[in-house]
This record gives sequence, structure tokens and C-alpha cells, in this order.
Amino acid sequence: MWTAQLLFSCLLLLLLFVFILLLSGRTRSKREPPLDKGRIPWLGHALEFGKDAAKFLTRMKEKHGDIFTVRVAGRYVTVLLDPHSYDDVLHNSTSLDFSRYAQVLMERIFHLRLPQYNPAAERAAMHKHFHGESLARLNATMYRNLRGLLESDTLPDPTRWKQDGLFNFSYGLLFRAGYLTLFGARHNNKNGPTDIYNAFRTFDGLLTKMARTTLKPEEKREAESVRKRLWSLLSPARPGEGAAPSAWLQGYLKHLEEDGADRDTCTRALLLQLWATQGNVGPAAFWLLGFLLTNPEAMKAVKKEFSDIPVAADVPENLILEKLQCTPVFDSTLSETLRLTAAPFVTREVLTGTTLHMANGQEYDFRQGDRVCLFPFLSPQMDPEIHREPEKFKFDRFLNVDGTEKRDFFKGGRRLKYYTMPWGAGRNACVGRHFAISAIKQFVFLVLSRLDLELCDPESVLPAVNASRYGFGMLQPDGDVLIRYKLRDLL
Ligand code: HEM
Repeated sequence: MWTAQLLFSCLLLLLLFVFILLLSGRTRSKREPPLDKGRIPWLGHALEFGKDAAKFLTRMKEKHGDIFTVRVAGRYVTVLLDPHSYDDVLHNSTSLDFSRYAQVLMERIFHLRLPQYNPAAERAAMHKHFHGESLARLNATMYRNLRGLLESDTLPDPTRWKQDGLFNFSYGLLFRAGYLTLFGARHNNKNGPTDIYNAFRTFDGLLTKMARTTLKPEEKREAESVRKRLWSLLSPARPGEGAAPSAWLQGYLKHLEEDGADRDTCTRALLLQLWATQGNVGPAAFWLLGFLLTNPEAMKAVKKEFSDIPVAADVPENLILEKLQCTPVFDSTLSETLRLTAAPFVTREVLTGTTLHMANGQEYDFRQGDRVCLFPFLSPQMDPEIHREPEKFKFDRFLNVDGTEKRDFFKGGRRLKYYTMPWGAGRNACVGRHFAISAIKQFVFLVLSRLDLELCDPESVLPAVNASRYGFGMLQPDGDVLIRYKLRDLL
């Protein structure tokens, strides 16, 4: 009996060993990028990658150069870090696919499987609503919501100092205003947007672990419970309930229903859209305001530019929004902020084996089933050959001496098409970019012109970034910085 059990256990161990060997067995062919499997079978570099992807990929770049393949939890990921060669990946939509990995994340994070997933149609619909006249209407609604919330948040005594963390202040205000603008006020309960914001922050805090499937058991339970809470808070309104959502969201829900999605699927899709539309704007505004508060010269320049724009309550908002169109100093400050703090991976799945033609003439084969990943945060954004002293915030980095936008940046003596890439690029670049820029600009304008706002401790420095968020869009701080604010009297 004992011998049989021992034999069976040995056999199992042997099978496991063979399985691991099979998975570890990949070798590099001559035409493929350098391969770095890491020491741990199957897992490869997963732990280091998840802990601080920027640090890990910098180490790999020093070891292998601008292109290499690493093993991460059983998958092989080819990382490309030469911005001169990015177009060859971005324009190859025949062999390199955007939507498969997006679907993996949709299932892992939102437990969402759409009856028919058609990213091209969704993108086209979104493009229609976030451009031209429709965008102008959304911007105006956003402005009214931001101004209303900014003022009501200072109540009951608007001229008394209130204290908050800058991250919570920026994220909270932009999230609630964005939610009201796009999703509509379907809660007659005035705390609706605040309840959703609070639940969303818990969800957002677990997001990277959900995506990597590394939640601990108690975190799994927390994720499950907060996801359910968000679903119940978001479930689509029945006719006559609360104010209508934006034309974009109405169209999106109608399209889902026509595709055969049931009510549960629609609710899950709403949480996905809440994340896509609200998850990055607040953190971006936090960094921008944080850089201004800790860089007096930049604050002075942005305030000077805004000082020409009237803000009194009786000024028509379309005049304010029109004046906010031409703000080169603010635009440079925003580009510089995003250069330092936008760190998405641009990921594609290799559908069929294909060849990458690098700008330097070298060619590399990609294997079917692998992933390809660009990480523009390392290059161009933090590349010292492109941006001098890349770790420093310089509000005028994207300004020419004559005050126009600077677009000339070089690497290897050649002018770059991509010198910063916070919005991604190519066919799958961010569709909400113009709405996001307008929202952040409105927020900073309103805060600087309607509030007295200062650091509680004038010597405060900005918190370090939370290194586990590299690859997931806007970075977030590890901690917060205390501010105080009150409504300014308008003379
Ligand atoms: C600071 C704020 C934002 C940043 C930094 C940002 C960044 C990005 C990036 C990098 C991508 C491309 C991902 C890839 O290629 O894999 C993307 C895609 C996308 N973004 Fe944004 N985004 C922001 C705000 C917004 C807003 C406000 C909206 C909507 C109102 C939005 C809607 C989308 C959508 C729908 C896509 C997917 C496009 C597609 O399917 O091809 N984003 N965003």
C-alpha cells in the first residue's frame, strides 16, 4: 500500500518536472530578439515585472538593448523600446491584435464577456460623440458640473479653510463631475456620485492585482464585494429614473441591447466604461496641480496665462471655454506632467508569425501566440537622449522660445515622430483625449481662479509613485500630500 502511494507520488512529481521542463524549453532562433527566461521555471520574471516594471525593463534594456523577449508567468512578451520603430508595431493590425488582450483584462477585472465584441465599431461610435459639436456640448456640461461641485464642496462655510489630501481632492472632484456628465444623475440621492467614487477607489486600488490575478484570498473577497456594490450602484436606469445619461452612453447601451446583452452584462459594461472614462483623468490632474504647487515658477506662468480669462459668475461659460482653447503654457505643463506620469503598456497579441523591421535596418521575427509590448514611458518619455534631465519637471519643456508648441525632439540624430506618448498612438490611440485635456484644464483653471488652495506644509514634496501601477495608464502616488482650500471672494 505504502509502496504504491510512494510510486504514485514519484510519478506525479516526475510528470510535474517534465511539464515544467516542457514549458521552460523554449530556445531562441537566430532571427528572434534576445530571449531572457529568468531563473524561475514557468514564472520567469513575473515577480520582478509586477513589483516595478519600469525598474525591471530598464535593467533588461541595459542588458539586451532596445528589443528583447522575457518570460512572464508562462507567456513570452517581446518588449520594444525604440520609438523610431514603434510604427512597425502600431500599423501592423493584420498580425498584431489589440482586442484579445483587452478581452482577457475585461474578464479578469470586470467579469465581462460581451455577446459580440467589436472594438472598431465601439471606437467609431465613441469618436462621433467625443469630437466636434458633441464634444463642445460635453465640455460645457463638464464645466457646469465641475463649478457646481467645487462650490458645493466648500459648504457649509465657503470661506473657512477645509483640509484634504490633494489626490483625493483632485480625483474626487473630477470623477464625480465626469460621472455626472457622462452617466447622468440617475440618483435623486445627492450622495450618488460620492458613493460611487468611494467604492470605485477601493476597486481601483485592487485593479492591478485583478489584472495580474495575484489577489490574496481576503483581497479577492473584497474585490468581489466592491464589484457587486458598484454593479448595484450603476445598474442602468429604467425609463423615468433620474436624469438621462449622455448621448454617447445611451447609444452604447442601445447597441449592447441590440447585440443581445442582458441587463447584467450591460451593468458590467457600465463599470468597464466608468473605469475607461474616469480612471485616468483625476490622477493626471493630481500630478499637474502637485507639480504647480511645488514649482513656484511654473505656478506663476500658468496663473499669468489664466489671468486673462474672466471667471465671474455672470460670464457666459462658452466665452470661458473659448478662451481656454488657447493656452500654450498650460498645454506644455500638461504634456510635461504626462511625460513624467503616464505609463501605459501598449500591448498587442501576435496572431500570426510576423517580422519586425527596426528603424536601424535590423529585422526580428515574432512568434505566434506571444505578446508584443511597447513601453513609451522608458523611451521616449524618460530617455535622456531625447529629454535632458528626464526625471526633472520643466513646465516649458514643450514650448519654443517664441511661445509656440515645441515638436522637435531627436534621437540618434533623427527627428522623432513619437517624443511623448501618454495617449498611445495609431488606430487604438485614446478616443477620449480631447475631453480629458479639456476636463483637466477646466479643473485647474477653476481651482486656481475660484479657490485659495495651498500645501498645509509649504515644504512638502510630492509622494513617490506606486511602482506596482506601471503599465496601467496614469501612475498614482504612494500616499498623498495635504492641502487646504477655501472659496475665494469674487470682487
Ligand atoms: C489622462 C487621461 C487619459 C489617458 C492618459 C488615457 C490614455 C489612453 C491610452 C494610452 C490608450 C491606448 C491603449 C492602447 O493602445 O493599448 C487609451 C485608449 C482609450 N481611451 Fe483613454 N486615456 C485618458 C482618458 C480617457 C477618457 C476621458 C476617455 C473617454 C471619455 C478615454 C477613452 C479611451 C478609450 C475608449 C480607449 C480605447 C480605444 C480603442 O479601443 O482603440 N480615455 N487611453
